[in-house]
Amino acid sequence: MAAQRPSHCVTVLGEQYPTDHMTNISPTIVSKLPLKLHTQPSHPLSTLRALIESHFPTYAHLSSLSPLVTPYQNFDLLSFPADHPGRSVTDSYYVNKDLMLRTHTSAHEVEVFERGETKWLLTADVYRRDEIDGSHYPVFHQTEGARIVSANPAGMKEIEEDNERLAAHLERSNIEIEDVPHLSPINPCQPAHDPKHTELIAKNLKLSLNSLMLHLFAGRVGATAQNPLRVRWIEATFPWTTPSFEVEVFFRGKWLEILGCGVIYQPTLDNANVSDKLGWAFGLGLERIAMVLYSIPDIRLFWSQDPRFLSQFKQGEITTFKPYSKYPACFKDVSFWLPEGQGLHENDFCDLVRDVAGDVVEDVKLMDNFTHPKTNRKSLCYRINYRSMDRSLSNDEANSLNAQVVSCLRDRFGVEIR
Ligand code: DAH
Repeated sequence: MAAQRPSHCVTVLGEQYPTDHMTNISPTIVSKLPLKLHTQPSHPLSTLRALIESHFPTYAHLSSLSPLVTPYQNFDLLSFPADHPGRSVTDSYYVNKDLMLRTHTSAHEVEVFERGETKWLLTADVYRRDEIDGSHYPVFHQTEGARIVSANPAGMKEIEEDNERLAAHLERSNIEIEDVPHLSPINPCQPAHDPKHTELIAKNLKLSLNSLMLHLFAGRVGATAQNPLRVRWIEATFPWTTPSFEVEVFFRGKWLEILGCGVIYQPTLDNANVSDKLGWAFGLGLERIAMVLYSIPDIRLFWSQDPRFLSQFKQGEITTFKPYSKYPACFKDVSFWLPEGQGLHENDFCDLVRDVAGDVVEDVKLMDNFTHPKTNRKSLCYRINYRSMDRSLSNDEANSLNAQVVSCLRDRFGVEIR
């Protein structure tokens, strides 16, 4: 007799794991784990990864780390506070309380430093529970980059020489940089650091990333002396870097947020047993950049298997996506009463809709949210837009998907349909 899979287990990437009160990983998400779009030849995300890697030829290029990490790796090793909202089951996917899907590539910083890597890039799929629309998807891709050197005169000399080289290159380029100070009262030097060292490291970080922005964008906007590429630096905060910054690029009339970065918080390096080093790290989101570089209008398209999408791209080439005809939208409303005293997080609703309809759902909007003054029961109305990217969806099909959503809602959350 075939062994029965106990219902208190979940299979993820071929392994079984026990479930518990934190388990919220959904079948749709489990099905995405093996795909690794950033390693599929010719895929826009793979070309973008290669383009970033080609700008850092002397760095180690990593891209095959498992998406399963412990909350300790994803948060604690990076000094996230115990009550950080990112830890909650409404924001992150848990296999169980001890294992989750990484929410960012920074989850691997400590282990990569611990392995002895000092200059590296790591590209991977990351997972966050989110709303449904054209620019949000529960799986996306990030590239993490980092560089550390010895906190001694030799290390600082290496950075100084690199700064001179990079500054000379940028001076010859058409780039306009809106900068902020390397250090400021809200972005101070860490107690463990010599401010002169921090200044040099922050400068190296900024020069390296300004140069990456030129590499990614300048060729595509045709930056000229009259029309330079504009890059803007903004002060930020991350638990595992100080000082911290964000970078925006002005592209096709809009400021586009590209990445977060900073001087690595010394306890992070202590956790990796490289206390004698200091350096910088950054993390950038690939989809957002690929959407503007290739003019891809909907984030679901990255997951399309349609030859009309895939055949448009060649490895190593950035070309403008030519949209094929858009199929009609089909809107369905779902209104329901929640059981007394019960709420429903929008991310829980969206995961349920994705489990039923997959990528046929284009967006989900809350239309009405009302609490009955007498019974205190809550009523919600969501409008779901069903639209396939690959074919025309019949009204019957949309009705049938919507009926399944309704039935799952009843089963999972005990709602009463209005
Ligand atoms: N992990 C951050 C995110 O997902 C991005 C980031 C910010 C990465 C700062 C870094 C960093 O390495 O230093 O939003």
